[in-house]
Amino acid sequence: MTAARIVIVTGGAQNIGAAIVERFQRDGATVVCADLNPHADKTVHYVRTDIADETSVIALMNEVSERFGHLDVLVNNAGICIETPLHETTVEQWDRVMAINVRGTFLTSKYALPLMTQEAASHPAIVNISSIEGLGANPLHAVYAASKAAVAGFTHNTALEYGRYGIRCNAVAPGWINTPFNEQLLAQYPDRAAVDAEIKALHPVGRLGSPTDVANTVHWLASAESGFISGQEVIVDGGRLAKLPLPNL
Ligand SMILES: NC(=O)c1ccc[n+]([C@@H]2O[C@H](COP(=O)([O-])OP(=O)(O)OC[C@H]3O[C@@H](n4cnc5c(N)ncnc54)[C@H](O)[C@@H]3O)[C@@H](O)[C@H]2O)c1
Repeated sequence: MTAARIVIVTGGAQNIGAAIVERFQRDGATVVCADLNPHADKTVHYVRTDIADETSVIALMNEVSERFGHLDVLVNNAGICIETPLHETTVEQWDRVMAINVRGTFLTSKYALPLMTQEAASHPAIVNISSIEGLGANPLHAVYAASKAAVAGFTHNTALEYGRYGIRCNAVAPGWINTPFNEQLLAQYPDRAAVDAEIKALHPVGRLGSPTDVANTVHWLASAESGFISGQEVIVDGGRLAKLPLPNL
């Protein structure tokens, strides 16, 4: 019998993160949810963590090291977005988004890597959650877009530097995933039903994404089945980015 893999999911308490936790648990993995808020399922090991804070991340990795001795998978999912016109964005807002989305990904990776180079680690892999907004633009999201483009660059470098230790690193770039994350943007449209229909129509697959769509891809990228894939950003957007705008026929 193979040992249960040890997996950390940041921001695993809700929505996409919770779906990722659930997907790994279904495999029998031991999942640590590192979030500011607790996970509702008490079978998930919850470690209260602020990924933007170095002391908090060190405490998380110390706890994982003491309990499990190594780490197989790190999923950097926690992230925030703000909705502001660029010229009104404050330095504090810029710093906050960058502290969580970029510094957080750096800190968890930095302190997880020594646990992933342990002999006990099986097919060690890091999966970062970026966004298609690192590749194309939505209005009011300049800071978020910059942070997610940074995550993609960080992913390439991590893959390059740690491949020699057998550690792979990839990113998943979700498109429109149906979670409350998008409510700030949607709330600005006066006709909600009309905008919902328009957003759906942007997707060649004819539907919005679900947290499970992202979770399945993350799970695959962390598995031995994707063992020759590293340094990639896998777009999970129902074909939206592939669709060039054209007036309706
Ligand atoms: N929902 C989408 O359409 C979409 C699209 C592309 C990318 N993403 C990315 O997917 C990820 C998850 O999105 P979601 O919709 O599930 O968001 P969400 O806001 O529902 O969940 C984010 C989780 O991260 C946690 N978190 C926030 N700051 C943290 C911190 N400093 N330390 C630890 N945990 C923290 C929150 O408590 C929450 O549980 C984010 O990185 C987001 O940028 C989402």
